[in-house]
Amino acid sequence: MQTHEIARRFTQHFVDAGHTRVPSASLILDDPTLLFVNAGMVQFKPYFLGEAPPPYPRATSIQKCVRTGDIDEVGRTTRHNTFFQMAGNFSFGDYFKAGAIEHAWNLVTSSQDAGGYGFDPDRLWVTVYLDDDEAADLWRRIAGLPDERIQRRSGKDNYWDMGVPGPGGPCSEIYYDRGPEHGRDGGPEADEDRYLEIWNLVFMQDVRGELSPKEGHPPVGELPRKNIDTGLGIERVATLLQGVGNVYETDLVRPVISRAEEFSGRRYGADPVDDVRFRVIADHARSGVMIIGDGVTPGNEGRGYVLRRLLRRIVRSSRLLGVNEPVLQSFAEVVRDEMSPSYPELATDFERISAIVRAEEDAFLQTLTAGSRIFDTAVAATKQAGGAQLAGDKAFQLHDTYGFPIDLTLEMASEAGLAVDEQGFRTLMEEQRTRAKADAKARKTGHGDMGAYRAVLDTAGDTEFLGYTDLTSESRIVGLVVDGVGVPAAGAGTAVEVVLDRTPFYAEGGGQQADAGVIRGDGFTVAVDDVQSPVTGLVVHRGRVTDGEATVDAVVSAEVDTGRRGAVSRSHSATHLVHAGMRKHLGDAAAQAGSLNAPGRLRFDFTSPAGAVPVSVLDEVEDEVNAVLQDDEEVRAFVTTQDEARRIGAMALFGEKYGDQVRVVEIGDYSRELCGGTHVHRSGQLGLVKLLSESSIGSGVRRVEALVGIDAFRYLAREHVLVSQLAEQFKARPEELPERIGGVVERLRLAERELEKVRADAVLSSAGALADGADDVGGVAVVAAAVPEGVSGNDLRALASDVRGRLGARPGVVALFSATDGKVSFVVATTSAARDRGLAAGKLVPAFAPAVGGRGGGKPDLAQGGGSDPSGVPAALDALRRAVAAA
Ligand code: SER
Repeated sequence: MQTHEIARRFTQHFVDAGHTRVPSASLILDDPTLLFVNAGMVQFKPYFLGEAPPPYPRATSIQKCVRTGDIDEVGRTTRHNTFFQMAGNFSFGDYFKAGAIEHAWNLVTSSQDAGGYGFDPDRLWVTVYLDDDEAADLWRRIAGLPDERIQRRSGKDNYWDMGVPGPGGPCSEIYYDRGPEHGRDGGPEADEDRYLEIWNLVFMQDVRGELSPKEGHPPVGELPRKNIDTGLGIERVATLLQGVGNVYETDLVRPVISRAEEFSGRRYGADPVDDVRFRVIADHARSGVMIIGDGVTPGNEGRGYVLRRLLRRIVRSSRLLGVNEPVLQSFAEVVRDEMSPSYPELATDFERISAIVRAEEDAFLQTLTAGSRIFDTAVAATKQAGGAQLAGDKAFQLHDTYGFPIDLTLEMASEAGLAVDEQGFRTLMEEQRTRAKADAKARKTGHGDMGAYRAVLDTAGDTEFLGYTDLTSESRIVGLVVDGVGVPAAGAGTAVEVVLDRTPFYAEGGGQQADAGVIRGDGFTVAVDDVQSPVTGLVVHRGRVTDGEATVDAVVSAEVDTGRRGAVSRSHSATHLVHAGMRKHLGDAAAQAGSLNAPGRLRFDFTSPAGAVPVSVLDEVEDEVNAVLQDDEEVRAFVTTQDEARRIGAMALFGEKYGDQVRVVEIGDYSRELCGGTHVHRSGQLGLVKLLSESSIGSGVRRVEALVGIDAFRYLAREHVLVSQLAEQFKARPEELPERIGGVVERLRLAERELEKVRADAVLSSAGALADGADDVGGVAVVAAAVPEGVSGNDLRALASDVRGRLGARPGVVALFSATDGKVSFVVATTSAARDRGLAAGKLVPAFAPAVGGRGGGKPDLAQGGGSDPSGVPAALDALRRAVAAA
């Protein structure tokens, strides 16, 4: 049975049983505890916690999931996918254990002709939580399972929570026995490769605190209702129903392996080491494409880093399979073809996806080249020192800085005839992991402070946002938070967070900066300088009580700083225009990757398949945008359905979190975009938009910055003044300036060169005087002198030779010093008669070089060197004379 069909049957089964079908949430749902959505229940979390009323009592979804915790297991076991689809059914206070068990059992065991999966009931096993007699009993009654196929397991296996404070509950899992050829007898307790888990039924009833019931800590509370959250692994069911060996060989994943076989000329199944590589490629290609599809671009932290790591592992695995050409685009095409029946945006958005993978691959191949150089140098040094093993810190550096996995380093080292200090490498990796864990923990603790906001949300509900139309409102304070704790009142001078029942203040989001303003009550004022939404639905005004005492329940006037809001809104509207302009000129692949709308200025990041945007395009976009301003187009915002928004071509970033109702902002006919931000009413209000710069901020992502309105005008005005001043100074018309300045610069260069030459000639012509001034030191003619600053090493050498020549057949030593920019160069030359008396230039150097903080060396006739202390030159001259006298 095809994977798409497995998913379809699941949905059908539960829709028939009264569940509302809910589409998969984006992989990057806005949950601060998660990098990626990793379970079907994530989008329903507020319903479990009772933070929001569930819109339906029962739901079913096929959720895209990413889990990268076990990335090193990928390809080595039969069942670890970094991307997978979790099919789930959910009950919010509706049916509980009996209903969940019955629904699951029916779907799993009813025949394929009857729309089920047709698993043989005699090969199914289940597990229940230690003391969950109720579940065990239900399995006996409903499924008729014998006691020996109902195993009890501890919290580690049979308690489920999100790994952070939140909903949780005991669970019960369904396993399929693949047969004795796959491992030991004894049920899931004995062997999870032979007994493959396909479905987890969670009886969601607890609130988990900082410590998990998985480790035996009691829950800290009960959820308001008893719920059901289940997750069936679609890929695992596919593995079983398609009779293949592992999740990588199922219909949607295996085609990538075939493509990799074509590239490499090697065959899957021929060599166990290669097979792991093939499977890594297939798994990662799919996760990578799905993650990019949801709007993530490769980067050095967070989600971007996970994505980068996945893509780079593909490229490296391909190299290890002997492929040297670019592969990512081709693998991405296979993934698109397999996955787009369920996720059509992969096809419509493919140009952007493939631009991102190509850029990342290019960047990595360069890194790989640089890393290989480091590797080669390290190998050469190791061999030269007679070593047989590459140091652990080198392997770690290659891993950490150049993204070389240890297996790549091992393989390259073995080709070079070396071993690698793997132990040393692992110790360093372990240290790094400990640091990363400490970081993650610190972040989670920060998140623990959400309690105070949640409490306000629980009692007062969502904050009503009035700011699209109003800039002031009469509101009531429903919560005050000081240092993360809810308080009834806050006195003058206190840094406070104020929650209102309704507010005109815009909380930072979607690239738009927060409003500022003031909240006035009877006898008190709060100056607001930041507005955030730390939990969905709640707007928190951050600021300081400037006088009086703010109290909960007080009626206040909330007043937005209109100047700031106006400037930020202008920037936001300008960003939409720039986005539309870029798309028009660069194609749909130029999709927004981030933005900042600040007063008077904006930053817009976007993917650009073709690299830098030519100046001519920037000019055209700027021109066009300003024409839209001049036409004074109406800016309209309206709410519509997601489908309608797509139909009218509204730009949206797939994967952003949009509900079914979306807000569309359009500016005349030029731009139409999904957006929750605030905007001007007419494009003419923007006045002027000036693009400032365009640059790269990472592989395939470009950034433009621009000024808007009066800030744009002031910028141009300043430039105008500058140009006028220059024109005045150069006595030229502005348009003649480039040529005029170019001419001046060129003349200056020639003059400097000339001056240099004159100086060198003067120095060289001093040879006669220097030779004449030779001292007699114990029968040796010594010329020891500091010559003027700025004489180059070459000139100094030439001068020393000239002086030496003038000393003729006498024993003579010439030592010249020149200081430039805080550095000293020196040259020592000896005549042959001096050398006959044992005076070798190279040997003299150590006698005086330390005096100028330097060193040097050379042959008996000529030596040179340098130092870093010009003030030591006189001491060095003395030291040289003494050395000659002592010889
Ligand atoms: N939340 C549970 C899991 O992820 C069941 O959906 O396994």
